[in-house]
Amino acid sequence: MTTPTVTLNDGLVLPQIGLGTYKLTGDDGIASIVGAIHEGYRLIDTATRYNNEGEVGKAIAASGVPREEIIVTTKLRGSAHGFDETMAAFELSRQTLGLDYIDLYLIHWPNPSVNRYLDSWQAMIELKDDGLAKSIGVCNFTEEFLSKIIDATGVVPSVNQIELHPYFPQAQMRAFHAQHGIQTESWSPLGKTEELRNEKVITDLAQARGVTPAQLILRWHTQLGAIPLPKSADRGRQMSNLHSFDFDLSPEELDVISGLERGRLWGGDPNTHEEM
Ligand SMILES: NC(=O)c1ccc[n+]([C@@H]2O[C@H](COP(=O)([O-])OP(=O)(O)OC[C@H]3O[C@@H](n4cnc5c(N)ncnc54)[C@H](OP(=O)(O)O)[C@@H]3O)[C@@H](O)[C@H]2O)c1
Repeated sequence: MTTPTVTLNDGLVLPQIGLGTYKLTGDDGIASIVGAIHEGYRLIDTATRYNNEGEVGKAIAASGVPREEIIVTTKLRGSAHGFDETMAAFELSRQTLGLDYIDLYLIHWPNPSVNRYLDSWQAMIELKDDGLAKSIGVCNFTEEFLSKIIDATGVVPSVNQIELHPYFPQAQMRAFHAQHGIQTESWSPLGKTEELRNEKVITDLAQARGVTPAQLILRWHTQLGAIPLPKSADRGRQMSNLHSFDFDLSPEELDVISGLERGRLWGGDPNTHEEM
């Protein structure tokens, strides 16, 4: 199986599904990530705040897969906003990962009360110009925050990684992204708990297709044009999540799934949520 790819606005090519690594820590975490790479994952999503950049670096080295074949994403934490702080935080992440460069470097949260995300974005532009970050983007940015950094610098983020799942389909943000050439990535794509996977709409459609509820939800993401980042510690579930491209949902079925909409699940409103 070849995973479909997406080309970002700066030319970097990403597989259309990646491995979320939140909570994959220690030796078990390393083993899980190595297993995922061996299953075929080539996009790995970590963050300084996950305290597992070291594990991700070790897993990549242990996998035997050439480093340049793996897209590594990490994220700038809120306590390091500011130009110099971003430069220092990036260097620390690079060293912890044990990598010469980072493929995709993202601002983790805008933290508008701190109001230094623009300084961080300017530092990230320099990191990209220096070739240390191949691609730069953001997470959890609203239209307002995106417009502010684009208007100030002329540099459009390659990615905005947002909470996205059938309970929170984010049609307006996705339309804004499409209009500006920003790739949507979906965090908590499975809604994190089993509640979403147990929805009758999901289980009925999955059963009719002969796929798992998780595969059905992931196909909804990819047909919307997003890149889902499901986390699984289990190799079997990692494998089945990755192999979720060989069936298609009709436009009506996509709409039925989006009809589960009820809003954010964890109250992470970027206008007010602070994460340091
Ligand atoms: N940028 C941000 O602000 C932000 C915020 C949150 C998350 N993220 C990223 O998004 C990634 C994914 O989000 P998430 O970890 O919150 O939630 P998620 O991927 O929606 O769900 C993960 C949960 O689903 C289970 N699972 C995975 N595949 C399954 C399957 N096929 N069948 C049954 N259960 C399955 C996992 O358990 P097992 O491990 O036991 O399989 C785990 O409990 C994170 O790891 C992180 O990389 C980013």
